[in-house]
Amino acid sequence: MIKIAPSILAADLLNLGRDVLRAEAAGCDWIHVDVMDAHFVPNLAYTPETVRSLKKAVSVPLDVHLMMDRPETLLDAFLEAGADIVTIHAEIDSDIAQLVKRIRGAGALAGIALRPGTPLGAVRPYMDSVDLILAMTVEPGFGGQKLDERVIAKIRAIRDTGYQGEIEADGGIREDNLGMLAENGLTVAVMGTALFRCTDMPETVARLHRLQAGSSRKRDGV
Ligand code: DX5
Ligand code: ZN
Repeated sequence: MIKIAPSILAADLLNLGRDVLRAEAAGCDWIHVDVMDAHFVPNLAYTPETVRSLKKAVSVPLDVHLMMDRPETLLDAFLEAGADIVTIHAEIDSDIAQLVKRIRGAGALAGIALRPGTPLGAVRPYMDSVDLILAMTVEPGFGGQKLDERVIAKIRAIRDTGYQGEIEADGGIREDNLGMLAENGLTVAVMGTALFRCTDMPETVARLHRLQAGSSRKRDGV
């Protein structure tokens, strides 16, 4: 079944605790924390202290997406604050293999992310050592954008390499396009706007999980 990971980028900042508790109670599987350094992306968001506070509030895994040019500067702080999954971008100049080792060495799952325009080849050297590949379905930096359908082929291509880890997508995911993503190999859906704007989150999450069960059955040929 697809995991649903609400992005707190779309939460009500003045009621962040209420919104994450609502998401957890609605059956969401992870909480996605978009971290931005105003350099790798033209936006600034969230800190290790946010992760520390969220860790006290919810028991579902915290999925921390580091949209940072130099994640090594804050990696220990995010890990120590309680990040359960830490994803770095394939486009950075840092020593990715070394960072992946540090993330896993701290007991967290390691992910590597690709902007929509970055080819799959950029993650090939790391596929044997990461637990998750994040195929961004929008240009990172802002929520509420339209899903870039060209990325669906990339998700399919990742799965077709035989990669067995999590394949996550992030950006523009809605109830009406999630089935297509699942049929092409997605296992984790980051959803911000579509989830936090809905009035019936428990029913929506239940439909998404049910919807995915059908799609994954089709994919698995069951
Ligand atoms: C982009 C952000 C968004 C956000 C989710 O850097 O990562 O993808 O989390 O976007 P929406 O609101 O479209 O679900
Ligand atoms: Zn993200």
